[in-house]
Amino acid sequence: MRFRGFDCLIAMMLASTTISLGQAAQPAVKHAPAAATSPSSGKEMFMSYCASCHGKDAKGNGPAAGALKQAPADLTSLAKRNGGKYPADKVTSVLRGQASLMAHGDQEMPVWGPVFWKMSQGHEELVQMRIANLNKYVESLQEK
Ligand code: HEC
Repeated sequence: MRFRGFDCLIAMMLASTTISLGQAAQPAVKHAPAAATSPSSGKEMFMSYCASCHGKDAKGNGPAAGALKQAPADLTSLAKRNGGKYPADKVTSVLRGQASLMAHGDQEMPVWGPVFWKMSQGHEELVQMRIANLNKYVESLQEK
């Protein structure tokens, strides 16, 4: 089967949207399959795929943030930190996994390109639509 290896990879990369508190004191990130969302709603995708770490307000304090070694970035200050211009290309390459965020160590920010690709059954234009609409939504959250 053509996709078998790919499926494993996806399963490993899928970001969780839930967090289990269990008996352990430390919260843990639970990996769950990505829920289906509409490629035309940036907000719906953000709430399903990003808010668990970056927070519903995108400021970096989602419920899973405490379980990560590295704090999820504040996504409302992307423009401010980039000389006032929203860095759409950078966000695209982070999502596609083309930009390595850390010089050392493991990367906790999941790569979404292959997940969106699988979800879109290989239709690149749908992948692009997802990324474009996520970008539009995140851009709309920028603080002045
Ligand atoms: C499992 C937790 C997690 C999820 C889910 C997640 N992120 Fe992240 N994200 C991180 C972490 C941690 C960082 C900081 C990593 C670093 O700097 O190396 C980060 C960094 C980023 C950055 C770089 C920000 C900067 O200031 O350079 C962008 C953009 C980003 N995330 C967007 C998203 C979007 C959009 C989604 C949803 C599609 C998402 N993230 C889902 C954990 C997550």
